[in-house]
Amino acid sequence: MSGTQPRSEEPGLVVLSNRLPVSRVGNKWQTSAGGLVTALLPLVSTRPTSWVGWDGGSHKLPEKLPGTDAGLVGVGLSRADVKAYYDGFSNATLWPLFHDLVGTPEFQRSWWEAYQRVNRSFAEAALKTGEELSSPTYWVQDYQLMLVPQLLRAGTDAPVRYFLHIPFPAPELFARLPWRDQLLRGLLGADTVSFHTEHYRRNFVRACALLLTDVTVRGRDIVLEDGRVVHTQANPISIDTTDFAEDARSEEVTGRLQRLRRQFAGRRVLLGVDRLDYTKGIPERLLAFERLLEDREDLHGRVCLVQIAVPSRGDVEEYQRLRDLVDQLVGRINGRFTRPGEDVPVHYFHRGVAREDLLAYYLLADLMLVTPLKDGMNLVAKEFVTVQHAALSARSATEGAGALVLSEFTGAADEMPQAYLCNPFDLDGVSAVMATALSAAPEERRRRLDLLARRVRRHDIHAWAERELDQ
Ligand code: ADP
Ligand code: F6P
Repeated sequence: MSGTQPRSEEPGLVVLSNRLPVSRVGNKWQTSAGGLVTALLPLVSTRPTSWVGWDGGSHKLPEKLPGTDAGLVGVGLSRADVKAYYDGFSNATLWPLFHDLVGTPEFQRSWWEAYQRVNRSFAEAALKTGEELSSPTYWVQDYQLMLVPQLLRAGTDAPVRYFLHIPFPAPELFARLPWRDQLLRGLLGADTVSFHTEHYRRNFVRACALLLTDVTVRGRDIVLEDGRVVHTQANPISIDTTDFAEDARSEEVTGRLQRLRRQFAGRRVLLGVDRLDYTKGIPERLLAFERLLEDREDLHGRVCLVQIAVPSRGDVEEYQRLRDLVDQLVGRINGRFTRPGEDVPVHYFHRGVAREDLLAYYLLADLMLVTPLKDGMNLVAKEFVTVQHAALSARSATEGAGALVLSEFTGAADEMPQAYLCNPFDLDGVSAVMATALSAAPEERRRRLDLLARRVRRHDIHAWAERELDQ
């Protein structure tokens, strides 16, 4: 274990997440990408904080999160536990089960045993570091740690909050899990269990009512046999809109955008930015783009798709299959539609990009394609509208604005009805929505973007955190 905070009288915070928010690049540590990290970063500087997470096999973690006073507490995992707890139970059992079976969940008892063991290690590390803080609140993140609230509850009277960053499935699907009761009881150790949407919250409450005989549902509360009350709420996660808007106007981003504009001159750009995950609907998106090119010869040489996909969970089989499939589809589409001497229709990057480049791509895009088959929230959608909106005043009215094509099956769709909504399973439908959004009048695109960006700004990351913590 590494460093924690010197004791201060201010109320402390112990954050628990599977991954610590740092990664090693060369011989330097830097804060890492991902929805959860992006979301929590602005918050950890506001109070004495310890962040507990998997040390990723490194015994030389920095004591503090770079640029902040937040302590980092690493939990070491054996290779076997990483395979069984992370690749196995978290990402080959829970992940597909909670994403409406868009992948096939595997149920293995040895994975479940590892999950219990690792959740115990996280809870022990958190309780230990919590003792060094004054009046700590424990804030547990996501599906990798669903047993932790109950384990903490057994060791402290301090407030315990839990936030699920992925969907909670319909009880009928959840009920397939052999260890379903244990997971529900794990979560019910928290004082508050939060979800992105009302729909996920209701699924959870229905699962409790259906599967646990000793609890009573009272409105948004679940009352346990011993009288303890667990509150549930919907609180959609968001982004630091001020930060994104400022960065979008920076010289660095403007410079990169100008370079990209020269490189993609004469073409309208459709953009996808995701982890390479089968829930994100990348093959389906490619197929819809292929359909668009099949149907609209007039667009050949005039549109292209830039797909940026960060490698993710490469040791899990379904992710390896996905990588092969995407390689194959990109090759097929480029093979079919590239014209002699011209640029390819699909630009595919199998890597993450620096924040400045990401923002420049957001600004470049005519259409942002956020088309997951299922996604708890999707921050890319919120980042895109925020960044595009920040640049709106500098553009002429005839230039229009980027349009967001958004899957109905994302949590973000609840808050973003002005996006061009689509059903990602309907290839013709998605292709038609792409065509509609491409041909929308500039004023219409600006009108939609304005409403979307305002809504994201009203419920930004600070509003989210306030609801999570200041109760
Ligand atoms: P998830 O949490 O499932 O990864 P989200 O869309 O909610 O999905 O969050 C993804 C986060 O990772 C966003 O903040 C986004 O900016 C970042 N990200 C996604 N893809 C890339 C990429 N290719 N390069 C850099 N950052 C990325
Ligand atoms: O949002 C779901 C989530 O699993 C987060 O917990 C995590 O930060 C992100 O996706 C990336 O996943 P992983 O840590 O497995 O690479």
